[in-house]
Amino acid sequence: MSSVSENPPPAFDPGWLALREGADSEARATATLAPLRAFLRGRGGGTRERPVRIADLGCGSGSQGRWLAPRLPGAQRWTLYDVDPGLLSLAGAYLPAASEDGSPVSARMCLRDVGTITARDLAEIDLVTGSALLDLLTYAELERIVRAVTEAGCAALFTLSVAGRVELFPGDRDDLALTEAFNAHQRRGGRRGPEAADTAEWEFAAHGYRTLSRPSPWRLGPERVPLVRSWLRGWAEAALEQDPGRPSADTWNAASASANGGNWA
Ligand SMILES: C[S@@+](CC[C@H](N)C(=O)[O-])C[C@H]1O[C@@H](n2cnc3c(N)ncnc32)[C@H](O)[C@@H]1O
Repeated sequence: MSSVSENPPPAFDPGWLALREGADSEARATATLAPLRAFLRGRGGGTRERPVRIADLGCGSGSQGRWLAPRLPGAQRWTLYDVDPGLLSLAGAYLPAASEDGSPVSARMCLRDVGTITARDLAEIDLVTGSALLDLLTYAELERIVRAVTEAGCAALFTLSVAGRVELFPGDRDDLALTEAFNAHQRRGGRRGPEAADTAEWEFAAHGYRTLSRPSPWRLGPERVPLVRSWLRGWAEAALEQDPGRPSADTWNAASASANGGNWA
């Protein structure tokens, strides 16, 4: 198994995470919430003495908690995991104080490589969640997390994994080459990249879990110009870093122009 020190995850700028939080929130699939609530009801938690216990893996600055905590009833105690201490403290500071029905929500922070998590760590957890995380993990890390979750017997909700599909309007003849180069970049260091969600679903099923997966695409238009610019710049830069010769100079210039406001002024 690889560890963070051998294969460190990319650093995530809190400004970038804040910029995408609104689009992420709109994209999140809500169909998974009803079965999740039913499962948690069956576990019997939600009181002050016995809160619902949730582990957020790779919490970043905490956008999953800000979205999910107010959508689940009952008292909740979140354990937030990340390898970035700055993001971790933001997540702890900005977790909502109340759940859907006004019950208290508390948090503790854990500076930890989630690729090393075990069933023992999750022994008192009802729900393991993670958002925009799976694609950053190697197969061994993903398999270990699935094993830990299934041995502990908790529910899992993993959201917003990179799926590798991009449609640009208007399209360009080099869009496919850029997409392929970006997807290859996502797979660097053995990460699952665009295959991560399918891998996780397969692994959970192999461990006897019933799975439910729903699409959660970003739909970005002129109402999200700063996010489009920032995403497009990062997307094209990653593609070019992966395959400097493949996307043509024209493509790169067009992407840069769009990112700098050429098509969105
Ligand atoms: C794309 S950000 C997503 C953050 C947040 N979950 C969200 O949805 O905005 C990925 C986060 O996972 C963390 N991360 C990646 N690999 C990790 C690992 N092996 N152990 C702990 N945290 C990890 C990163 O530090 C980063 O905060």
